[in-house]
Amino acid sequence: MPAAPAPWRTLLDRALRENPIRPDAGYLQLATVRADGRPANRTIFFRGMLDPGDRILFTTNLYSAKVGELTAQPYAAACWHFLATREQFRLDGRVELVGAAHSDAALRAERARVWKEKREDSRQTFAWPRPGLPREPDAAFAVPPSDPDAPAPNFLLCVLSLEEVDYIDLRPLPHLRWHYRRQGASGWSAEAWNP
Ligand SMILES: Cc1cc2nc3c(=O)[nH]c(=O)nc-3n(C[C@H](O)[C@H](O)[C@H](O)COP(=O)(O)O)c2cc1C
Repeated sequence: MPAAPAPWRTLLDRALRENPIRPDAGYLQLATVRADGRPANRTIFFRGMLDPGDRILFTTNLYSAKVGELTAQPYAAACWHFLATREQFRLDGRVELVGAAHSDAALRAERARVWKEKREDSRQTFAWPRPGLPREPDAAFAVPPSDPDAPAPNFLLCVLSLEEVDYIDLRPLPHLRWHYRRQGASGWSAEAWNP
């Protein structure tokens, strides 16, 4: 029997319908843990969800710092603010990195689909010099057109599988807060908390 959708998905789907995806709602912040135990945080672009709906997709460069951090410590926390509707989702879970050699064929196919769906200028960034190294001359960033059917070897699809969701809605007074926790493989608990 297919797993039931997570209960917080109704709220997130509504927030995505009611907030313009660009420029406001398509971006979230993702925090990871560095090797020295300090947090690292950055903006990422939301690339969709995998069914039954509690896996969030984003993409990144194999050579970015977050990949080393997630390889050592796969747990991450994302924060997603919806400006127009005054809602926030705090999303905790584990990130799986999907490259060309990933064992799951469905995830490899998803990686190829997302690569193809990307804009050309975004695909070309994967042929740029390695991120986080001293700046190279502009000429090094003049790269040939990408192949939409051949994901760059350093292109990673990242799958954030959620385990805990903390939701707050600032529109009603008092504010609304729900806490959701994954229970086993397919279920979620939901509890109303004081905001
Ligand atoms: C609006 C916006 C969207 C971004 N989207 C992504 C993204 O989807 N994936 C990504 O790896 N970096 C994205 N970045 C860049 C990251 O915020 C970050 O600077 C870069 O990934 C390096 O992070 P790291 O050194 O912690 O790995 C985006 C930046 C901005 C400002």
